[in-house]
Amino acid sequence: MKGLILAGGSGTRLRPLTYTGAKQLVPVANRPILFYVVDNLVGAGITDIGVIIAPETGAEIKAALGDGSRFGANLSYIPQDRPAGLAHAVATAEPFLRGSEFCMYLGDNLIGMPIRDAVSTFRSNPDVAAAVLLKEVPNPSSFGVAEVDANGHVVRLVEKPKEPRSNLALVGIYLFRPIIFDAIAKIQPSPRGELEITDAISKVIELGGRVDFGRVTSWWLDTGKKDDLLLANDTVLDDWLESAQEGDVDQASRISGRVKIGKGARVERSIIRGPVVIGDGAVVSHSRIGPFTAIGDRVSISRSTVEHSVIMQDSSIVDIARLEDSLIGKRVAVKPGASRHGALSLMVGDDCVVELSSD
Ligand code: DAU
Repeated sequence: MKGLILAGGSGTRLRPLTYTGAKQLVPVANRPILFYVVDNLVGAGITDIGVIIAPETGAEIKAALGDGSRFGANLSYIPQDRPAGLAHAVATAEPFLRGSEFCMYLGDNLIGMPIRDAVSTFRSNPDVAAAVLLKEVPNPSSFGVAEVDANGHVVRLVEKPKEPRSNLALVGIYLFRPIIFDAIAKIQPSPRGELEITDAISKVIELGGRVDFGRVTSWWLDTGKKDDLLLANDTVLDDWLESAQEGDVDQASRISGRVKIGKGARVERSIIRGPVVIGDGAVVSHSRIGPFTAIGDRVSISRSTVEHSVIMQDSSIVDIARLEDSLIGKRVAVKPGASRHGALSLMVGDDCVVELSSD
């Protein structure tokens, strides 16, 4: 069985972070989302994996994943010239998939459970044309929505319906047999101009194919906006972080809870309350960090308190009394201004949100 990871698209929902990088590479607990995706496929025994990439961000995705050997995978990159939809991405990958059954995994989806069981159930049942994973959600209109029958089959799928007929959202993990290509050839672009995989699966049902479903019983994060990403970070730190100390912590610092400190990192005269991950080469001095905080590689934090936040690589936080619930991108400097009359002096890029204390 092959794997197909969708890491193309345009990524407007995580702006401004995605102006300068692919949304699938946004870090959760200091690891790009995409790394968890590859791990989950490999954990299900799927190592021959195609990765759909876009012209704008493809080079960055390739640089991050490489040939896949460090994940135990063999990766092939498949350029998609424009983000014309999930079904268009599948059709683009047809030469790579060459008649094989395959698991398609959206590169921006993170779930808290292995896909291994769903994959082996599908593989052992050749009568099934396709299988999807579903999860009950409070806001089904934001997703593809499935209607299912009492026999455990999917009867209808609709993409982001205004009036959803169930609360079962399609999680971005799908299992297909080659009939999906016949179905894609028979569908038209949706009103938003994309070839929708939901329409293609509905077409499989129309063609007489059986579509089964499994349920996601763990958490699922379709990392969209700031709060979703902070929640993803909390959840991954809470569930998966293992303590490790590869850097230096001086005698005057205190560490409690689960804390991972990367290679070459230094913690001086600071209090770290886990779960916290501190990246390679980061320096934390005279500060309090955590809980639920990810500090990226080479970040520098001094004389500051940072709680429940994600600070991405090469940024610095200096003399900030309290920073919380924050998402700080790469190479950002947060520091007090030189102004003596209480004025703010900011240089902030497009689509950022700056929330200042009203005290
Ligand atoms: O997250 C689950 C949802 O994902 C499902 O419930 C929906 O049924 C499904 O259509 C999809 O909806 P989104 O609107 O969230 O899809 P998005 O455009 O964000 O694309 C998902 C991933 O696929 C993302 O990593 C980018 C990639 N992609 C997307 C398009 C449109 C491609 O590689 N090529 C594309 O043409």
